[in-house]
Amino acid sequence: MHLKIALLEGDGIGPEVVQQSVKCLRAIEDLFGHSFQFTQAPVGARAIALHDNPLPQQTLDLCQQSDAILFGAIGSLEYDQDPNAKIRPEQGLLKLRKELALFANIRPIKMFSALSANSPIKESVVKGVDLVIFRELLGGSYFSEKTVSQDLRHATDLNEYSEGHISRIAHLAFKAAKKRKKKITLADKANVLETPRLWRRTVMGIAESYPDVQLDCQFIDNVTYQLVTDPKQFDVILTDNMFGDVLNNLGSVIIGSNAILPSASIGGENAMFEPVHGSYPQAAGKNVANPVASILSAVLLLQHFGLEEEADALMIAVIKSFQKKIVTPDILGSSDYGTDYVGDFIASNIEDADEVPTMNMENIGLGKSTII
Ligand code: IPM
Ligand code: MN
Repeated sequence: MHLKIALLEGDGIGPEVVQQSVKCLRAIEDLFGHSFQFTQAPVGARAIALHDNPLPQQTLDLCQQSDAILFGAIGSLEYDQDPNAKIRPEQGLLKLRKELALFANIRPIKMFSALSANSPIKESVVKGVDLVIFRELLGGSYFSEKTVSQDLRHATDLNEYSEGHISRIAHLAFKAAKKRKKKITLADKANVLETPRLWRRTVMGIAESYPDVQLDCQFIDNVTYQLVTDPKQFDVILTDNMFGDVLNNLGSVIIGSNAILPSASIGGENAMFEPVHGSYPQAAGKNVANPVASILSAVLLLQHFGLEEEADALMIAVIKSFQKKIVTPDILGSSDYGTDYVGDFIASNIEDADEVPTMNMENIGLGKSTII
């Protein structure tokens, strides 16, 4: 298969982790006879520094001409500490989502056996967790009308949704649930707010066309509690843009690290794959950042294009790195393996088929996409 892949490495640790994914995809390319064409373009704070624009036109053009985008991270301390900055790195990511019509953000939260002791939550609670969050990505307060008074002492963010926005992601979530444990939890705040009631009406209506999928509607405050105390009850969680942003990070807590979780943003003609973690500017260039979230984003990319064997081969190599403790210090304090070393280990173990029977296969969806 020939794929054009845009590399938007972005800020902070973005470039060094994306480079590890590129190594892995190069190894897949050789082993399975594909051709991946990588092209880089600036985004975020780096693009502001270069072009005064967090998403320069040539970056957007490249993304539109590519099949997929591997995104690194966005954000810089300079802007985080300045709430009055008019141009912000994050605007680049939001514009990209909008221009590419990426309305669904999909984040699988699956516990790896080798890491279940790392969670701050009891091992018995998190062992075996396997859920996926479907976050609506183009509506709600992120993209609705905003105001700020001239004296900067009053501000509003409208939270707007229409049935169409809700139903397109709901259908994706129901289709995913059909292939998984057949359960959807809608996380909302329908006891207080009007837009969540629209979500509930719409999703309940759609549920009628998926009779084999069980729909469970829960209030978002309860979902946060349940996610920590009993995460195994969840299969697919469907939620809006803002609640999804928050729930996603709670998902990282279950796993015990936000440095290993990937995500896929889909919906339009192009699809984007990115780690869940931020730009971690304090670690940039120090070769200590964990590349696994980026590498697992490459696994999602392969699955998205139906390259299941390739995705499984890469996933197995990642699991092997956990089992052999070839991990960065955020996973194992006593480890002194760097970003590059872990990336090299994973890339060079992709074809190691001999080891496969000794692997713990429970975490690998062999032949099954974990996305949809
Ligand atoms: C995320 C991030 C983004 C968001 C920011 C960087 C705009 O936190 O992808 O979760 O809020 O959606
Ligand atoms: Mn977020």
